[in-house]
Amino acid sequence: MSNPCREGLPVVANDGLGRDSASGPLFEDGSGQLSAPELAALKAEILALTRRYARSAHRGFRPGDDPDRAPYSGGAIPYAGRVFCEDEVEAAVASSLDFWLTLGPEGDAFEQELAAFLGVRSCLLVNSGSSANLVALSALMSPLIDPKRRLRPGDEVITCAAGFPTTVAPILQNGCVAVFVDADPGTGNLRVDQLEAAYRPGKTKAVMVAHALGNPFDLGAVLAFCRKYDLWLIEDNCDALGSSYSMPRAMAESLGFGDNSPGLDEGPDRVARYTGAWGDLSTQSFYPPHHLTMGEGGAVNVVRDQRLRRICESLRDWGRDCWCPSGRDNSCGKRYGWSLGELPEGYDHKYIYSHLGYNLKPLDLQAAIGRVQLRRLPGFIEARRSNWRWLRRALEPLGQRIGFSLPTHATAVNPETGDFAWDGSGCRSNCSWFGFLLRVKPDGPLSRSDLAHRLEQAGVGTRMLFGGNLLRQPVFQALLRDQPAAIRSVVAEMSGADGLMEQALFLGTYPGLTEAMLQREVKLLLEFAS
Ligand SMILES: Cc1ncc(COP(=O)(O)O)c(C=O)c1O
Repeated sequence: MSNPCREGLPVVANDGLGRDSASGPLFEDGSGQLSAPELAALKAEILALTRRYARSAHRGFRPGDDPDRAPYSGGAIPYAGRVFCEDEVEAAVASSLDFWLTLGPEGDAFEQELAAFLGVRSCLLVNSGSSANLVALSALMSPLIDPKRRLRPGDEVITCAAGFPTTVAPILQNGCVAVFVDADPGTGNLRVDQLEAAYRPGKTKAVMVAHALGNPFDLGAVLAFCRKYDLWLIEDNCDALGSSYSMPRAMAESLGFGDNSPGLDEGPDRVARYTGAWGDLSTQSFYPPHHLTMGEGGAVNVVRDQRLRRICESLRDWGRDCWCPSGRDNSCGKRYGWSLGELPEGYDHKYIYSHLGYNLKPLDLQAAIGRVQLRRLPGFIEARRSNWRWLRRALEPLGQRIGFSLPTHATAVNPETGDFAWDGSGCRSNCSWFGFLLRVKPDGPLSRSDLAHRLEQAGVGTRMLFGGNLLRQPVFQALLRDQPAAIRSVVAEMSGADGLMEQALFLGTYPGLTEAMLQREVKLLLEFAS
């Protein structure tokens, strides 16, 4: 009988075991079936070959300080990219051989490991940071939320005018009003002094903002504002995995936080937690430029109230009420015992829907890659910090022409040591930098765009602060025209967001940068900007 799996495939003359693999039985007993030990041996052989291949083929993707990394020999310096070794490739191939495909054991393990790293109740994998933002905001609209706090169409959500569009898009996609405060040009973060003006009693329900380029926003001020008016906080932590924020213990406790995130400790009088572990929900992106990658991917972190997880999971998984992981049935123990909506009693829980959902799951293979990356995360975070310090020290001579960022609450940096002076708020931030933000002062010899262009021509990748002032983007201009009630700006002129749009640029800090790359980057910058 013909084998449809083999039809159309090229015939492999020899399977490496000395037998013709495309025709005829593979094994002595004529069945073509390997015994369990034979399968394990074959898998081990494939994985050993995979490691050998990846080690040689991908030397240029190893961490910048890895002695086995291919030396930099000139050429393009991307602003970010995948950093991986043979372990990630092996994990991907092993997962492919297991062929579970949809989210499964690797996904479960990744979710638990990420939650343990951050010190949050749980994490939910999704297929991108944008999906994570969509799930997080949509969760607050769920009929399962306390009616007093539930978001409804027309309710207002405060956000920042500068940044990435999919931090804001879910607000509008859910029929809520996006209320924009300006950005601080020094950090790219929202201006907390505009929050009170943004608040409308009975209308404002949530704040949803990003930690810009790994620099935490002023969590002390934002959390105090949210507590004062009983508002939800969604932290878009897509660009800030590994950044942390600390405050005096008394202040943290008054905001509802007594515990440090695992591994963070600033003494008994302070509480230190990772960004993404302060709001109600937070989000991650695992797209390649981010702090860890699985190709595409993202996560929603449920910080304290585990009931939100069920809602997020339902939204991710078609809107279903059932929470069984794929491949498992009847986790609730009463699959045919529910009576919900107007469905007949005992209707299969698998097909009962409590939300208008999506399908936003990634593959288990992605999670397998992510788990290896998660083990590298502490090293990645340190490399990002060290690259930022290196750039800051080396670019100091450009201080007249270029404005440099400081971590939120820092008032100055010693460029030699990288030590910061702090403001009197008692709060501090420790950045896991996504990029090195600089603002080209307008009266210098080169504009920001000229500088970006010249660096690009010389092979040095840079990026602008994503969408700049989002309100000037074509899509928001169209919204302002077609649905003016969907957007509210707290100030007439978004001068901070405009300044970032016109003058800001960021260089990479990703862990794949080597010292030779940083040196070349700085040499070119000094040359172009002087
Ligand atoms: C702040 C922020 N939020 C969300 C996203 C979206 O993440 P993704 O590309 O995984 O959809 C990005 C993308 O880089 C981002 O920078």
